[in-house]
Amino acid sequence: MAAMTELYVSYPNTTLHSQSQLHFSYSSTTHFSKHRRISIRTLPPTRNKLVSCSIAPNQIESPPTVLTDDSKKKPECYGVFCLTYDLKAEDETKSWKKLINIAVSGAAGMISNHLLFKLASGEVFGPDQPIALKLLGSERSLQALEGVAMELEDSLFPLLREVSIGIDPYDIFQDVEWALLIGAKPRGPGLERADLLDINGQIFAEQGKALNAVASRNVKVMVVGNPCNTNTLICMKNAPNIPAKNFHALTRLDENRAKCQLALKAGVFYDKVSNMTIWGNHSTTQVPDFLNARILGVPVKEIIKDTKWLEEEFTEKVQKRGGVLIQKWGRSSAASTAVSIVDAIKSLITPTPEGDWFSSGVYTNGNPYGISEGLVFSMPCQSKGDGDYEFVKNVIFDDYLRQRIAKTEAELMAEKRCVAHLTGEGIAVCDLPGDTMLPGEM
Ligand code: LMR
Repeated sequence: MAAMTELYVSYPNTTLHSQSQLHFSYSSTTHFSKHRRISIRTLPPTRNKLVSCSIAPNQIESPPTVLTDDSKKKPECYGVFCLTYDLKAEDETKSWKKLINIAVSGAAGMISNHLLFKLASGEVFGPDQPIALKLLGSERSLQALEGVAMELEDSLFPLLREVSIGIDPYDIFQDVEWALLIGAKPRGPGLERADLLDINGQIFAEQGKALNAVASRNVKVMVVGNPCNTNTLICMKNAPNIPAKNFHALTRLDENRAKCQLALKAGVFYDKVSNMTIWGNHSTTQVPDFLNARILGVPVKEIIKDTKWLEEEFTEKVQKRGGVLIQKWGRSSAASTAVSIVDAIKSLITPTPEGDWFSSGVYTNGNPYGISEGLVFSMPCQSKGDGDYEFVKNVIFDDYLRQRIAKTEAELMAEKRCVAHLTGEGIAVCDLPGDTMLPGEM
């Protein structure tokens, strides 16, 4: 097993000494190529001072690499470090799709620790989709990020073709087709919700700007870090050159939780629950919609006749599930969040089963439900599997549902006013209704 080695390099043509970004880039030893490579590219000034590598310089063999058309185009590459594998050169990989770049922020955290290995295994994007993982961390987590990259190396995932780590979103988001934004400050004791909105909002404003500057023009952005709806709005507003439709706040975990609770009550397995919408904010005002949901294809209310249970117990259980979990674990849900990120991605890249839909926190402009425009609000969506989505048309409302939706809408409007300084909409005014955030990690 290769020991961690710190590698300080200097090259005739470049200035790697103080401004470099390490890429772990390798081919699986088992199936494809016997060689692993590192590629190092320069960054603009003020970036990392240290280049670390899990292969000592004298251990690097000179690989029989092919300079691909892609690598030739990379302006930041220098000499040997631009050499890379050619998927078309080997029988096993010839039929594979073009490599996609996936950025993950908060990459050294618990959620990512589950998610990255799912992404790398092919479980998410499929067995013929090679991927590059671009891991964004903070200065504090850089060591841990290296640990994550080492574990990814040691896992020998054939589809994982590149891993790069860094703390600068302008570098990490370069050309990414997916940005999974998990990293955010969790709310600790004594931290006001308005403060959290501001602290995390600044992170997402910066990341939005970076995506706008360097990501693929059709990047799909999934925001997980809380408060995720408003963080998504901030990110989106700071990325005006990326379609607003490409931004999602993760409410799939809430959908999954709601399905589980309905299944439990109805005495069926959870795969029998469909058409589950979460409306609104990923907070305790969210509305799990039992009016439109179905069990075994039948409206929930025809199977679960206890309306009081649906309106009170069920609704509250879903709304507060995250908080209860924090109390049990002492930290936020991680594995189930990662699973729900996978579900959310798959919902966008595979056609929605006929008649069904999924929930995602998306931009309200053009929504057919009468929800105020200019918010990121969880709503029912369907996809053709092309990464895009449409709003579902045939949903029904009653007074209860309308009232509940109005409450979560009011909360999101207040959050929006509170971050006006980060969305370019003037001076922030924080008049947040009640304390509706989850309790936060201790
Ligand atoms: C969850 O729903 O489990 C998390 O979003 C809770 C949290 O605040 O981290």
